[in-house]
Amino acid sequence: METERRKATPRTLIRMKKKGERIAMLTAYDFPTAEILDEAGIEAILVGDSVGMVVHGFETTLPVTMADIIRHAAAVARARPRALVIGDLPFLSYTVSVPDAVANAGRLVKEGGVEAVKLEGGRAMVPVIRAILKASIPVMGHIGLTPQSILRFGGYVVQGKSAIAAERLVEAAKGLEDAGCFGIVLEAIPANLAERVTASVSIPTIGIGAGPSCDGQVLVTHDLLGIYGRKLPRYVKQYADLRASMRDSFRAFIQDVKKGSFPGPEHCYDGGGEDE
Ligand code: KIV
Repeated sequence: METERRKATPRTLIRMKKKGERIAMLTAYDFPTAEILDEAGIEAILVGDSVGMVVHGFETTLPVTMADIIRHAAAVARARPRALVIGDLPFLSYTVSVPDAVANAGRLVKEGGVEAVKLEGGRAMVPVIRAILKASIPVMGHIGLTPQSILRFGGYVVQGKSAIAAERLVEAAKGLEDAGCFGIVLEAIPANLAERVTASVSIPTIGIGAGPSCDGQVLVTHDLLGIYGRKLPRYVKQYADLRASMRDSFRAFIQDVKKGSFPGPEHCYDGGGEDE
């Protein structure tokens, strides 16, 4: 008999690291996906700003707004998942001023129903993180290849390759832990550096393109399912080809309509009675 899974909290993830249990996190932006992820037993759901690319079709995450994330987060939260629901603070929603950052994190909780927020950046973000935590909102950090800094990076390039850059990332992770983050996403950094970062903090690291030594792994669900049609990064493992399944189903429907074989008698209502 399956034992009842408890609601996951930031402390659940920290405890999992202590016990050496790996953490699985995936993105969701809508109600049914959140329900299915929860049925599958995921520990954390990220309402990521990747929604801008994989759902809204933008080239980067930069155009994503608070309104976008709130709308998608609220749909996810309505599924009442046992997984911890984390919402991304979008570009420029936490870097203009500390009071703005707290207000925006608060909106994500109050209007979007998230249970924690994630923001990108290292030591420079410490005052922002402390202020959000003071408002009693748990914060997850995100370092390495931070997609909101794409204009500064000049492309989606692996970070932390030189000794100096690697040192900076280790220091950034320690700074995020000291600031009170309950976890850190490590994106697109060498596997041996991710192993070093993971060993140097007591909060869980969740890797994406950061090798197997992280305490957990996250992927963008649309990449994993093969829905997103653009070129995927090397770190993605595609578990399904839903794009092909969807195309086949759409073609079958079109053919049925053209042939007149849909709707069949089983899809039709009988007449001859009384209107209700
Ligand atoms: O927006 C997102 O989906 C993310 C993950 C790639 C970690 O930040």
